[in-house]
Amino acid sequence: QSGTFQAYRASLLHFSDDPAFAPNACSWHEDGLLIINDGKVHLAGDFSQLIAFLPQGTPLHDYRGKIIMPGFIDTHVHYPQTDMIASPAPGLLPWLEKYTFPTERKFSDPEHAANVASFFLDELTRCGTTTAMVYCTVHPQSVDAFFNESEKRNLRMVAGKVLMDRNCPDFLQDTAESGARESEALIKKWHKRGRQLYAITPRFAPTSTEEQLELAGALAKAYPDTFLQTHVAENTDEVAWVKSLFPSARSYMDVYDHFGMMRPRSMYAHCIWLDNADRARMGETQSAISICPTSNLFLGSGLFDFERADANRVPLSLATDVGGGTSFSMLQTMNEAYKVARMGGTYLQAMRMFYLATLGGARAMQLEGTIGNFVPGAEADFIVLDPKATPLLARRTERTDSIEELLFAIAMLGDDRSIAATYAAGKVVHQRQD
Ligand code: GUN
Ligand code: ZN
Repeated sequence: QSGTFQAYRASLLHFSDDPAFAPNACSWHEDGLLIINDGKVHLAGDFSQLIAFLPQGTPLHDYRGKIIMPGFIDTHVHYPQTDMIASPAPGLLPWLEKYTFPTERKFSDPEHAANVASFFLDELTRCGTTTAMVYCTVHPQSVDAFFNESEKRNLRMVAGKVLMDRNCPDFLQDTAESGARESEALIKKWHKRGRQLYAITPRFAPTSTEEQLELAGALAKAYPDTFLQTHVAENTDEVAWVKSLFPSARSYMDVYDHFGMMRPRSMYAHCIWLDNADRARMGETQSAISICPTSNLFLGSGLFDFERADANRVPLSLATDVGGGTSFSMLQTMNEAYKVARMGGTYLQAMRMFYLATLGGARAMQLEGTIGNFVPGAEADFIVLDPKATPLLARRTERTDSIEELLFAIAMLGDDRSIAATYAAGKVVHQRQD
């Protein structure tokens, strides 16, 4: 049995709760040991205490000087938009027309889809992300291509076919009926196959008819353990458009509520232009928020309000939203989230940023205990963070007086170079070339 054990010595960082609300939420073991058995966490703690529990002959990997923490969780990202990252436009709607739709058209070709999915997953793991909630395109073959690549790497990924049956080019349109039928077939094929999970994916209210939203809500009800992902209240022009398309709805969020889409495992990207009634409904229904700072700044969408979301105890998570987002790195994403919070008068602790990028994401997805921290039995998705990844980081992190300061410097200055290695279910999926 000892043949399946592996042990890793490093500083260990993980969370049992949100540091903004719980004083002892952070576990830090300066000289720590992470013991993995059969792709799952066996024990995590102080090296001096755990070394006695290590079965004879267990390989011990020495990462002293580095920090081992759970893999990052990016709760909103578009894999088909990888090739159009950093495309300039004066705002969301022109950006969709000019770049997004033509780029997504190419995913009718399964070979193209497989090629981009493979690059995308390599890039995620290079940046330390081990789980993501991923948009595919309207083409079912784009979903097969994605899950095939994810399954090859044994990653815990959530993805789904985009539903859109109006207000988009013909070449990207499904129908209410075909969209629901193809989604259901993909749920049966992929949901809970190995580590793969399915998300029902209406793109956003403007590109779906009421009939399509109705069927999406019905699917969400028929398959309550699937995920649901969409966009809401990202941009003021979009909000005005929704108001004209759904004049009887109380708000943009209310459109989704009306169709039964507010529920646990529903992930709403952006959530900038919400009101407090929307936030209260999110808290009540345990619908979650993906905060997408690099995208919101890049597209000029607006500033996320942390204080109001927290007042309603809405489950929060962080996301890149590539290709609207400008980086695959969750460290870069923390950097911009911090500045957005500052602009709104909120001070985001480094501890909380690392929580949001790990356990916060897992909780928002109702996957606590499976991913996001090192409780015994959790899947062994972890990263090896290098606090000295660049000359500047090495110099700066030598001069920090607390764990908070150390993590803060890594969040502000770190990026893909900070990730020395990434492990999924106990196996290496990325090793930095030094
Ligand atoms: N709203 C509808 N589609 C999209 C998309 O692809 N990206 C972003 N950022 N917002 C959207
Ligand atoms: Zn998006």
